[in-house]
Amino acid sequence: MTSHTKTLDRKRAWVSEFLSAPMVDMVQLDSNFAGIYVPEAELGADRIGITDQFLANAEAYATTYGNSAHFSSLFRQAFLATAYQPDNDTKILDIGTGSGVNTIVPCLNLFPGCRIVATDLSPNLLRILRGYVTSQNLEDRVACVCTDAMNNYFVPGSFDVVVGAAILHHILDPLQTITAAYDALRSGGTTFFFEPFEGMALVRVAFTLILERSRREALALDANVARFLEAMIVDIKARTGTDKSDEKFRYMDDKWLFTRHYLENVGKRAHFATTAIIPHAFHESAIFEQVISLLRVGMGKTPAALPDWAWDMIRTFDTAFSAEMKRDLLLEGTIVFRKA
Ligand SMILES: C[S@@+](CC[C@H](N)C(=O)[O-])C[C@H]1O[C@@H](n2cnc3c(N)ncnc32)[C@H](O)[C@@H]1O
Repeated sequence: MTSHTKTLDRKRAWVSEFLSAPMVDMVQLDSNFAGIYVPEAELGADRIGITDQFLANAEAYATTYGNSAHFSSLFRQAFLATAYQPDNDTKILDIGTGSGVNTIVPCLNLFPGCRIVATDLSPNLLRILRGYVTSQNLEDRVACVCTDAMNNYFVPGSFDVVVGAAILHHILDPLQTITAAYDALRSGGTTFFFEPFEGMALVRVAFTLILERSRREALALDANVARFLEAMIVDIKARTGTDKSDEKFRYMDDKWLFTRHYLENVGKRAHFATTAIIPHAFHESAIFEQVISLLRVGMGKTPAALPDWAWDMIRTFDTAFSAEMKRDLLLEGTIVFRKA
């Protein structure tokens, strides 16, 4: 055990192999966070860039957005697309783990014998993961570290794989996180990041046209649903483009919608040898299904929340683009960077 982990529970000391800075147990701050490590330098630091969605309301967030089956299929899709074959005993760094449902559960199944350092800025979400780790007796395989993904406290070259589900679009400067991932990976290491893309602008245009038509032709639209569509239009607009210097981004959870060009560029700047971007869905009803998913997770509503005439308008977007073009448009995708 290295000197900086002397304060950590001996049962979980394996994690010191991956940490390059002094860590302490967060029990020092709050007994609810026992068993979660924090870099000494970040103990008690402000949590910039996340809101109560991930802090005070962590339980509700984890319940609404957890879908391990979906993320398992995205991992498998990425393995197939990049001819990736998981080894035994893979060492994994998970960035922005949250409660772990979407990455820890799939990784434990897909990477035999893996060990995972699970990191997040929210101790409240990591606390949910800690409960799972303890209940499943996984302490020798999963460690929880509360840290800002803009920082880097990892032993260079100590991981085989870096994963992250819906994390990069929360980061003010993703280049810092992608560079940290590069440094943490061994030569030949690989990332799997699952992120939203600017193809979501199609949803913004569809929602704008639906609201305009409802007003123009006095077609009924539930007031709460109309408010939700308006909020989505504002949200997608704010996240479009690469200039995140405005102060408002420090107080917004969702900051980015990515483009292929931006990610290929940051991949190069971080010195990754290759970048592959795998679109999640490009079938004939990809946009239609994206809207169904937004209504479900954003409002807890079924498709019945929108009238038939609005669905017909959404379908025109799906029929206007071929599957090939939807691959290029990218609503959501997996980013696989490889280190030489
Ligand atoms: C959309 S959630 C995804 C969580 C989890 N991967 C999942 O799929 O359920 C984004 C996560 O990023 C974390 N996060 C946001 N900004 C962060 C930062 N600067 N450093 C580390 N984690 C951050 C949030 O606390 C939250 O858990």
